[in-house]
Amino acid sequence: MIMYTQVDSNDARFRSDASGVGPKQTSSSSVAPLPTLKLNDGNEMPMVAYGLGMAFSQADTEHIVNSALRGIRGGFNHLDAAEAYGNEKGLGIAIRNSGVPRSQLYITTKVWTVATTVKAAFEASLERLGVDYVDLYLVGWPQIADTPDRLQQIWAEVEAIKQSGKAKSIGVSNFLQDHLQTILKTAKIKPAVNQIEYHPYLQHGNLIDFHRQNGIATAAYSPLTAITKARPGPVDGIFASLARKYGVSDAEIALRWAIDQDIAVVTTSTSEERLYSLRRKLPSFKLTSSEIAEITELGKRKHFRGFFNDIFAPEDRR
Ligand SMILES: NC(=O)c1ccc[n+]([C@@H]2O[C@H](COP(=O)([O-])OP(=O)(O)OC[C@H]3O[C@@H](n4cnc5c(N)ncnc54)[C@H](OP(=O)(O)O)[C@@H]3O)[C@@H](O)[C@H]2O)c1
Repeated sequence: MIMYTQVDSNDARFRSDASGVGPKQTSSSSVAPLPTLKLNDGNEMPMVAYGLGMAFSQADTEHIVNSALRGIRGGFNHLDAAEAYGNEKGLGIAIRNSGVPRSQLYITTKVWTVATTVKAAFEASLERLGVDYVDLYLVGWPQIADTPDRLQQIWAEVEAIKQSGKAKSIGVSNFLQDHLQTILKTAKIKPAVNQIEYHPYLQHGNLIDFHRQNGIATAAYSPLTAITKARPGPVDGIFASLARKYGVSDAEIALRWAIDQDIAVVTTSTSEERLYSLRRKLPSFKLTSSEIAEITELGKRKHFRGFFNDIFAPEDRR
């Protein structure tokens, strides 16, 4: 079962109030820890992951090293990489240069294609990262397999990687309910996480409920879409008024809307100033349940998908 873990004393002071009375912000100058989410395998995942960007040349790799160092030094210990984004090598260099012990970092990476075996793809990821285990290994998209049988077979190979201890947790990304049902039919180990595009304008019908019923944590990538790619939109007004109420930015409201539903976020910024603000303000307030519900309802008035528009029809909200 997914549990929200209270990891800091500041958090414990906040109580959501369904009447709409907001929690007061802390006046403490110390930086509270970011929340973690307990996964169905008992491991804890930091709920705010830092995305690294893409790298397809040596120059790009230097860019990734700088990006990863910005994230780590900014106080984000969960780093989200992917074989397909070419950013594992740069992340590995940054980890070694950061001075932060490996054990204090949480590394996610993903497999996108399988040339021979998942094991071979995974070992190549470990080598690029220069680490001997990852915290979370994800099947990057269901299109990795061309048949349901093949998807089940790939999941069995991913299970073997967890059993080897080299991936502490395993999960999937961009899976719809029918893809999850396919692997659940034969799974010995349930996916711990499904990382999906998720924001007020892409709430995926019943998928989040299905995750909850099956103990699968949701991780939201592109959680800032409503304030970046999809403006103007119906949540603009409430984001602005809640940002004023809590003394934070719209981005922090967008992230808190996910986190306060027990949904982890995968976000990024090239701005040290924004990361500094995010790291400090995100754990300092919570949205009330009525504020969450209002954003949810307003968000349903618009549909926007930033990724995989070649796969989904324009009005497909799954
Ligand atoms: N599994 C998958 O298939 C998949 C697909 C896509 C992405 N991802 C992962 O998700 C990560 C994040 O994706 P994303 O970039 O789409 O996420 P996002 O968090 O929705 O957007 C990040 C963008 O928002 C901007 N931003 C950050 N803070 C802001 C603020 N306070 N006000 C206004 N704009 C702000 C940043 O620009 P500045 O740099 O100017 O701050 C950045 O361009 C990726 O890096 C990747 O790791 C996974």
